[in-house]
Amino acid sequence: MHPASHAPTELTIRRLSVDLSRGFSRHWNGGDAFMTAFANALSMSFPVGEQFFIDAVKAGNKALPDTPENAELKHLIKGFIGQEATHRHLHALYNAQLDKQGLINHWGPRAERRMVLGREKLFGKSEKPYLHELALTAAVEHFTAIFGDLTLERMDQPGDWFGGAEEPLKTLWRWHAAEESEHKCVAFDLYQRLGGNHTWRMRWYRFVTLQFSSDVFRQTVNNLWRDKTLFLPSTWWSASRFLLGRHGMLWRVAKPLWAYTRKDFHPMQVGHPTQSKEWLDKHSDQWRAVGAQA
Ligand SMILES: [Fe+2]
Ligand SMILES: [Fe+2]
Repeated sequence: MHPASHAPTELTIRRLSVDLSRGFSRHWNGGDAFMTAFANALSMSFPVGEQFFIDAVKAGNKALPDTPENAELKHLIKGFIGQEATHRHLHALYNAQLDKQGLINHWGPRAERRMVLGREKLFGKSEKPYLHELALTAAVEHFTAIFGDLTLERMDQPGDWFGGAEEPLKTLWRWHAAEESEHKCVAFDLYQRLGGNHTWRMRWYRFVTLQFSSDVFRQTVNNLWRDKTLFLPSTWWSASRFLLGRHGMLWRVAKPLWAYTRKDFHPMQVGHPTQSKEWLDKHSDQWRAVGAQA
């Protein structure tokens, strides 16, 4: 079966039944300072990043003619926006708890400054600014899709990044992972449909790869430093195992990261075709479907 046949035709907007108001432990991810700091760093980037994706996809949608061939993509865009808006909302509540724990989000504000600068100096001067923003979105969405796929791939086995996590964060991360994997085609397909080219897709991908790696590293180190666990041997042991162990992240991301550089790449070519759907179906008691927000 062609992988594209697993592409969704419907993106459900799900309201997750989690209560983040009561907070969570400092080392909620299996008592592991590094695994907690890393996931917290990612969470810190989401509210700003996901708003950027929403804006980019909305701008692209406006430029996409209202024709019968585009109807399905336009429908998926509504679902995409609703899903990202829900992620944004929950990660903002999550991040408010991190503030209370004394962590400081540097990544979000830095990304925001970068976007303002990009709009003022670069995209704003282009004839089709939305194409740049969509290429950036598609690149980051490839990262979140890989993260989503890998999160679900080794559940309850060695290499499970959230196996020891406490609730409700375990469910929150796996739900977010499943939806990232589920909607991974939308920004990419919109970019292609609007005539976005390979050269700019690659330029922004290289930019995102460097920026994302350095941002996640800086924020994780900062979180560990504020947590006073940066210099503990157990932190470094966990980081090495996570990156370079038998199921290390570096080995697992290499192939899908490289796949994006192919001219004929499509997001459905990587990851497991039905894994996210299986998780969402199996945990349907944790969420309820809500109407489109676009
Ligand atoms: Fe998201
Ligand atoms: Fe996403």
